[in-house]
Parts: sequence; C-alpha cells; structure tokens
Amino acid sequence: MEIIKTIVDFRKVRLSLTEPVGLVPTMGYLHEGHMSLIRQAKMDNSSVVVSIFVNPMQFGADEDLDRYPRNMERDLSQLQKEGVDAVFVPSTAEMYPIHFSSRVEVDNITQRLEGASRPEHFRGVTTVIAKLFNIIQPTRAYFGQKDIQQAIVICKMVADLNMNLIIITLPTVREPDGLALSSRNSYLNRRERKAARVLYQSLMLAKKLWQEGERDAKTLHWEMVRLIRKEPLAAIDYISIADTKTLMEREEVKLPTLVSLAVKIGKTRLIDNVILE
Ligand code: PAJ
Repeated sequence: MEIIKTIVDFRKVRLSLTEPVGLVPTMGYLHEGHMSLIRQAKMDNSSVVVSIFVNPMQFGADEDLDRYPRNMERDLSQLQKEGVDAVFVPSTAEMYPIHFSSRVEVDNITQRLEGASRPEHFRGVTTVIAKLFNIIQPTRAYFGQKDIQQAIVICKMVADLNMNLIIITLPTVREPDGLALSSRNSYLNRRERKAARVLYQSLMLAKKLWQEGERDAKTLHWEMVRLIRKEPLAAIDYISIADTKTLMEREEVKLPTLVSLAVKIGKTRLIDNVILE
C-alpha cells in the first residue's frame, strides 16, 4: 500500500494504478461505516484510493477542528488489511498553501438543514472534494447516506460542473442499538452514549407513524420532538421532513421523503436520517 503525502507524488503513483479507480474520501478515525464504502469500492474497481484529511475549511470557528479525533497509525493498518492500493494523506499546507483563494460553492440546497446551522460548512466540503477529484481523478467516488445532504450537494456539484466521475451513495452502518457510526461518537461518555439512541428512535417513530398512515409532516415532526424532549441530555438543533432532491420542507409526506435531524447530546452534535420510500 502506497502512503502519499504530496500532490506531485500522487500524480506519479496515479499513472501506475489500474483503471477503474475508486476513491473514498475521509477525515480518518476510521470505523465500519468508512469500511463499508471501502469494501464496495474494492468490489466495483480495480484500484482503490482512500484520502485522509481533516479539512479545516469545513469546520466553523466554534467547531471541533482541534479536538477532532485522529489515529493515523490505526487507520493505516486497517486500510492495509482491506487491501487498499494507495492512501493520500496531505498536510493542510499541501492542500491550502498560503494565498490559496478559490472556493467551489453550490447554491440553494446548501442553505437548508446542515447549511442553516453551519453556514460555511458545505463550501469547505465542495472545495476540498473538488480538489481531491482533480488530484486523484477517480472513476467512482463513494459517500455515506449518514451525511445525506453532503452526498446530495456533491452530486449537484458533479452534475453542474460536468465532472467526469460517478458518485455512489451507500447505506448508513449502525450500532446494534441503531446509533449511526460516527467518529464523533468517541466524544460521548457512557450516559451520553445511551442518550444518543434517541436520534434513531425518533426516526423509527416517524417511519412507524408514516407506515400507519400519517401523512401530515407537522404531526411527524411534533411526535419526534415529544420523544426527544423526554431525553434530558438531548437538545434538538433541527428536525426536517423534506423533499429528497430540493430539501424543501414538506407539508404532506409524499414518497420519497427525507426525515433528518441534528441533536446535541451534551456538547456533541450528532446527525442522522432515514428516507421514507
Ligand atoms: P468523514 O466524516 O470521515 O466520512 C467519510 C465518509 O464516510 C462520508 O461519505 C460519510 O458519509 C461516510 N460515513 C460516515 N459514517 C458512516 C456510517 N455510519 N455509515 C456509512 N457511511 C458513513 O464526511 C466526511 O468525512 C468529510 O466531510 C469529507 C467528505 C471527507 C470531506 O472532507
């Protein structure tokens, strides 16, 4: 497995990779969610590249950039075991040299849900992903449904800017009690970890009500709020019941509908979603 730190070196290694090439972009501290993307990429492609880069541009000033969990040694040994061909691990200076001044920005869908709570976030994501696509030149790139708005925004960028690759979105990998795997789960203490189950429980409640025939989005919303409020460690950031393409809020639940939420458990902000279809 090649471990490459610079863009110049990656360009050389890229010439030796057999086509098609799959890319899995990550911020490291890898878990089974990341691994599910890597395994699918292995199945679909002849070569697999994983990038590990904690991208400062997508973190707000008051967010957890410095605290974000890191374990490069463990990540690399996991990737080696999976049979990944190349890992791209650039420094911040390599990705954003001084006087770096370009941004890639997608309108509209980035203003809602996560974008409403974290205004600069998606600009940072699309800028770094556009750079990674240009450096790595993958045939396919893999993203998780866990961060569904991110996947939708990246698909829009690829379509709008005619980027020549295929985006593949894969299902959320969960703990046995339903909590979506996330690097940020490592911030939770024992009580908080237990409280965090309320995210998935509230999504399952919405799904159950919908299956029982409830079509009023306000009712689903309110029942989710009621459930989450019973958990004293949880504070709702947003709950959204929206169109899966435009991310506009729905009044009536028509298929497919995206039910998504962000909830703070103590100081840790967690997100999750399900699609009713
Ligand atoms: P990161 O949080 O490391 O996630 C990397 C990829 O793994 C993303 O596509 C994310 O949706 C996926 N993922 C995370 N948890 C998952 C789970 N439980 N099940 C399935 N997939 C999961 O997302 C980022 O990094 C960054 O924003 C990045 C795209 C790398 C740009 O910096």
